[in-house]
Amino acid sequence: MRSLGVNNGKAMKRAFLLLVALVGVLLPGVPAQAHSGRRHALPPGRSVRAAGKETGRPLPSVSRDAPVGSTAASPVVDAAQSRPPPVAQDETSAPAFTLIELHMAAAHFPIGLLLSSVFFDLVGWATRKRSLRETAFWTHLLGVGAAAATVALGLMGNPFRSSEGEVVAAVARHQWAGISGLAIFGLLVVWRVRRRNELDGFRLLLYSVVALAGVVAVCAAGYLGSRIMG
Ligand code: HEM
Repeated sequence: MRSLGVNNGKAMKRAFLLLVALVGVLLPGVPAQAHSGRRHALPPGRSVRAAGKETGRPLPSVSRDAPVGSTAASPVVDAAQSRPPPVAQDETSAPAFTLIELHMAAAHFPIGLLLSSVFFDLVGWATRKRSLRETAFWTHLLGVGAAAATVALGLMGNPFRSSEGEVVAAVARHQWAGISGLAIFGLLVVWRVRRRNELDGFRLLLYSVVALAGVVAVCAAGYLGSRIMG
């Protein structure tokens, strides 16, 4: 049976190797904890919201990045605090971003790509449009690459590693949801490549159920990640 544009095994291997190479080129050289002092200036495990709860003070209204104790009443001052300092004024030579900030930026890609892949699969199978299933295949492959990079950045840049308390439990829940999502979609993409994107009958049913579990895991990772800071 002719497969959906994925019959060229070499092209797939090249695409995958390119992804791995990109991750390898981008990751080294970014410090795990060195930062510009804007996001993790709080002691590990202490969030702005938690600090607000402890002190009973209302939270700063504009920025969740404002330092603890900031009581800036003026939105102008508050907004200024949330702005990253210009790189030229940084006293250290460290880049103005950390691995965890890269993680938070990267996280949008696996969420968007993997959910889009499932969507294209659904519509492709419902309408029997090969082009959509082909699109689903490639977004799935890219999504797994993006999820691997996001998980690696999260694990390497986790600023709460030596913290204690609720924040550690929150990170652990988020971390395992993310790793589960990567594992599920990773296994599915391997299966898919081996089947040359041709699934039907019971295989298709099984694939759909497992993909649904992957969607739940990735959505849970995104949600729990956004709740880590309270
Ligand atoms: C596919 C997997 C993952 C996804 C989709 C994901 C997604 C996210 C999202 C959406 C956020 C919140 C961003 C924001 O508030 O702007 C976040 C934060 C975070 N993630 Fe992940 N994540 C994943 C895996 C991991 C893993 C494996 C770890 C390992 C520890 C991790 C550690 C963290 C930490 C520590 C934060 C909090 C950063 C902060 O608020 O200071 N993530 N993640």
